[in-house]
Amino acid sequence: QHRLGLVFAMVEEQQGLTQYLQDTQTQTVGNREYITGTLWGVPCVCVLSGIGKVAAASTVTSLIQQFGVSHIVLSGVAGAADHGLSVGDIVIADQLIQHDMNVSPMLPKFEIPRTGKSRFDSCTDLSAQLRSAAEHFLANEFAEKISNESQQQFALNRVNIVNGLIGSGDQFINDMKVLAGLKLELPDLLAVEMEGAAIAQVCDDYQIPFAIMRTISDEANDSAPLDFKLFIDEVAAQYSIGILRQFCAQ
Ligand code: ADE
Repeated sequence: QHRLGLVFAMVEEQQGLTQYLQDTQTQTVGNREYITGTLWGVPCVCVLSGIGKVAAASTVTSLIQQFGVSHIVLSGVAGAADHGLSVGDIVIADQLIQHDMNVSPMLPKFEIPRTGKSRFDSCTDLSAQLRSAAEHFLANEFAEKISNESQQQFALNRVNIVNGLIGSGDQFINDMKVLAGLKLELPDLLAVEMEGAAIAQVCDDYQIPFAIMRTISDEANDSAPLDFKLFIDEVAAQYSIGILRQFCAQ
């Protein structure tokens, strides 16, 4: 049976989405509200996990165990960890790593105990579907509406979509030196956030396909707190909703 689990860390990343959910039923599990319904024709369960790896892991475990989802998608924002990326660009995770996991010298740095891996692969098909949805979103409603409204503020006229490594850790990164330290060990790191790799680890345990899509809200430097706040207040949800609409239509 086919049922999509949709995860958002913060309400600002999905504000307005629930109005498109039909035939809804709300249940509270583990202090979170899970809304079951149909989103643009797709059966789904929508939930706000809250910020951080534990919050994400616990939420995704409930999605799998209590709500029987067949696949999981997270949409949200991230800090850029690559010079080629700027605010408004879209990163789709091919791989995820917990950049704050370190059991050395017993295990190689970043390796997750019991799994034998440090990097977890996302589902190729779901990620390709998200990419194509993002391309359609950028070519259609984004060009008409969002870029016009937000262009001066965010210069969102030429948005890139890239695939690659996303790093998750229980810290908001707003320091060039901290980011540079991470890049030294993980040169291919594209973006930093706080949930993706936790979802990846739980989905690996349960063998559930998943995909993680992030829009760059800041550059993980000293202006990150301000940039982040502006972006999540003004545009983050428009990306999530617009791209998921295309995703569900496929
Ligand atoms: N999510 C968005 N921006 C971030 C940052 N700079 N660090 C961690 N998570 C983020």
